[in-house]
Amino acid sequence: MAPASLVSGEQAYRHVLVLAEDIGSRPAGSASERQAAQYISHQFTTYGYETEVQEFSVDYYVEEVSLEVVSPISLSLSPGILRLSAAGEVTAEMAAAGLGRPEDFPPEGLEGRIALIERGDLSFADKVANANAAGAAAVVIYNDAEGPFQGDLQAQSAIPAVSLSQAEGQQIQTLLEEGPLTAHLLVQSTQETSTSQNIIGRPPEDDCQFIVGAHYDSVAAGPGANDNASGSATLLEIARVLNLSDGNQGVCFVAFGSEEAGLFGSRHFVATLVSQDEPSPQAMVNLDMVGVGSEWQLTGSTSLVEKTDQAAAALGLDPLVTEPYLDSDHVSFMEADIPAILIYRSEDPRYHTESDRAEFVEPQLLEEAAKLTILTLAELAGS
Ligand code: BES
Ligand code: ZN
Repeated sequence: MAPASLVSGEQAYRHVLVLAEDIGSRPAGSASERQAAQYISHQFTTYGYETEVQEFSVDYYVEEVSLEVVSPISLSLSPGILRLSAAGEVTAEMAAAGLGRPEDFPPEGLEGRIALIERGDLSFADKVANANAAGAAAVVIYNDAEGPFQGDLQAQSAIPAVSLSQAEGQQIQTLLEEGPLTAHLLVQSTQETSTSQNIIGRPPEDDCQFIVGAHYDSVAAGPGANDNASGSATLLEIARVLNLSDGNQGVCFVAFGSEEAGLFGSRHFVATLVSQDEPSPQAMVNLDMVGVGSEWQLTGSTSLVEKTDQAAAALGLDPLVTEPYLDSDHVSFMEADIPAILIYRSEDPRYHTESDRAEFVEPQLLEEAAKLTILTLAELAGS
C-alpha cells in the first residue's frame, strides 16, 4: 500500500472547487450531475484506472409553482418552492397574517383565504400548520431579508405553500393595505424518471477486494461542497496516491450518483454485484461530509469501526464512534452483508443549504480523511 504521507489536502481541495464551484449544485439525474460524473471519470482514467460509467434510472419529483394577483390588478409573481408542499390550485382572497402566529391573524379570520406570512420566528412548517388550523386555503411565505428563497417543510403540508422574495411580499402587503386582493396560486408536483450514473475506477487486472465510495450528487438547494464534494474529492486523492508506484492492492473506487434521492447509486451498484455473481468485496469505506466540523466520527459494521479506530489512533486522531443512524451509501452495503463504515465529521451547520460552499471546506480535513482511509485499507490488507 502506498504511504499515506503522499496524500495532499490541497490537491484534494482542487476537486472540491471544480465540483462545487465550477459545476455547482448536482441534483440526482441532472445534467450537472452528469458533468461531475465526466470529471470524475476523467480523473480515474488519468490515474491509470479502468473506468466504467454504470448507468441506472432514478425517479424524482419536479415541482412547479406559480402565483398571480388576478384582481383588482393583474400581477405575475415569481414564487419559490417549499419542499413537501401539498399540490393544489387555489383562487382566493389574500390576507396578511404577520409571522404566522395565531395572534397575528386578522379578526375576520383566514377561512378559505391565501395567508401572506413573513419569514422568521417560527418554522415554515409551524406557519403553514397555524394557517391551516385557521382554515386558510394556501400560504405564501415571503422573505425577511433581501431576495428570494427556497425552503423545506420537513413533512408533507396539508395545504399548498410557496415562498416569495422580500420585495414581492412587501408589494402584496402594500396592496392589501389599500383593499381586497384576489390571487391564483398553483403548486404542481410531477414524477419524472431520469438517468444517473456511478463512476467505477478499478485497478487494472484486479478484483475489487475493497471499495472506497462517496456520493458526488448534491441536493438542489446548494452546491454541496461538504455534502459531498468533500468525500468525492478525498476519494479521488486516495485513488491518485494508491496507484502511484503500484501501491494498489484490490482497492476499487466508486463515486455514487443520486444518493440524495434515496441511495439510488449504491443500491444499484450492490444489486449489480449480486446479479452478476461477482465476488463480494471484503469491506466498503464511505466518505460523506469529511470537510467541515469539529470532530471525526465513525459508524457502521463493528469490526470495521474497530480497525478504523485503531488506524485513527496511529494518526493521532480520536474519533467518536456513533450509533448507526445516518443514512448514506454504506447502508446499501451493510444491507447486503458487506462490512461497511461511514467516516464523517460533525457537525455541519450549512448541511443541505445554499451556503454549503467550498470556502468552508478545510483541505487539512480532506488530508486526514484520506490518510485514515489509506491506513485502514492497509490494516485490512494485512500489510
Ligand atoms: N450526507 C448525508 C448523510 C450524513 C449526514 C452523513 C450527516 C454524515 C453526517 C446524506 O447525503 C443525506 O443527506 N442523506 C439523507 C438520506 C438519504 C437516503 C436521502 C438524510 O440523512 O436525510
Ligand atoms: Zn451526503
